[in-house]
Amino acid sequence: MNGLPANGSIRTLTAIEMPLLRDHLLRLDPASRRDRFNGAADEGFIESYAARCLADGTVVIAYVEDGKVLGAAELHQPDSSGDGMPEIAFSVERSARRKGVGSILFKRLITEAEGRGYPSLRITTGYSNEAMRALAHKFGANLTFRQGESTGSIDLRPKNQTEVAKPAGATPIDAARAIVKFNRTWWTILLGMYGWRRAA
Ligand SMILES: CC(C)(COP(=O)(O)OP(=O)(O)OC[C@H]1O[C@@H](n2cnc3c(N)ncnc32)[C@H](O)[C@@H]1OP(=O)(O)O)[C@@H](O)C(=O)NCCC(=O)NCCS
Repeated sequence: MNGLPANGSIRTLTAIEMPLLRDHLLRLDPASRRDRFNGAADEGFIESYAARCLADGTVVIAYVEDGKVLGAAELHQPDSSGDGMPEIAFSVERSARRKGVGSILFKRLITEAEGRGYPSLRITTGYSNEAMRALAHKFGANLTFRQGESTGSIDLRPKNQTEVAKPAGATPIDAARAIVKFNRTWWTILLGMYGWRRAA
């Protein structure tokens, strides 16, 4: 059970349903719009933003109540950002807040991103946006503050891969084992190159 009302559901919007995202973003009150877009966003901006989401294949996981989108989690394509890191963004209308909708959307978005094999995600929010910062922290985002914005990344790599990438957490014994393993592999390659490999 997810605690959502009986008339509420979470699903990925199809291309034809994308105007529902635009309508949802247009219904956000001025403060929420500012929080969502990290600055002022008038109707024209939102219209073209929603059109771009459709054109560039942004995945939108939505909270829908009676045919209306009241919450959205956006997963932008990696090639939409300069460094290839997919960006994510969230919005929940006031009437649906603090009921766990943002958390459910976040969880579903992570599952979607993992399914696509993305190693990490980026989220950017205003430094004073406590709600988004709390939500991002809940899902392991490490937010750093710069020029009025908090930017964070969420690591989606499987745990064992993360451990290989982060030797700082390893014990000296683990480190010694890794060196022995590396040396063994290196000598196997080297001896193989010169035809000195022993028969197995
Ligand atoms: C951020 C936002 C999506 C959260 O949606 P929500 O449905 O209210 O989130 P949830 O109910 O799942 O709450 C998530 C966590 O954040 C915390 N939280 C929510 N609102 C909070 C607030 N105003 N202040 C402090 N913490 C808050 C909750 O306590 C909760 O943690 P918990 O589960 O441990 O109790 C929503 O406030 C919103 O749409 N804000 C405007 C748009 C925006 O700021 N987008 C971010 C830019 S990407």
